Amino acid sequence: LATVEVDLSPVAVGQAITVVWRGKPVFVRHRTPEDIEQAKAVDVSTLRDPETDEERTIKPEWLVMVGICTHLGCVPKGQKPSDPKGEWNGWFCVCHGSQYDTAGRIRKGPAPLNLPVPEYAFLDDTTIRIG
Ligand code: FES
Repeated sequence: LATVEVDLSPVAVGQAITVVWRGKPVFVRHRTPEDIEQAKAVDVSTLRDPETDEERTIKPEWLVMVGICTHLGCVPKGQKPSDPKGEWNGWFCVCHGSQYDTAGRIRKGPAPLNLPVPEYAFLDDTTIRIG
């Protein structure tokens, strides 16, 4: 499907889901206040791929991004509670050790870029359309 609608209402704070959009995994995380605070506290000028948290989210509680490592295309770990999340409590790519923060920005390892944010919109408070 070119676009996909996602009901966010079952996703509790701290939980994440993965949906498939155009054959690709899209990570949706319902971020905690700590996740958001951590993401906003970063000095963006120190980042490899400088983007503010505001540039990467529509509502700070919801982070939506394509779950494909920008190094060589593995799917990073971090969606399940038991997954390794790396030093920045985001995502960890076990292929070559790239680490992403709670805004999905690259912080360590060989990946050159942040996890990409797809085009999406809120249709109502708890529904998004990706694509
Ligand atoms: Fe993710 Fe290489 S593919 S670190």
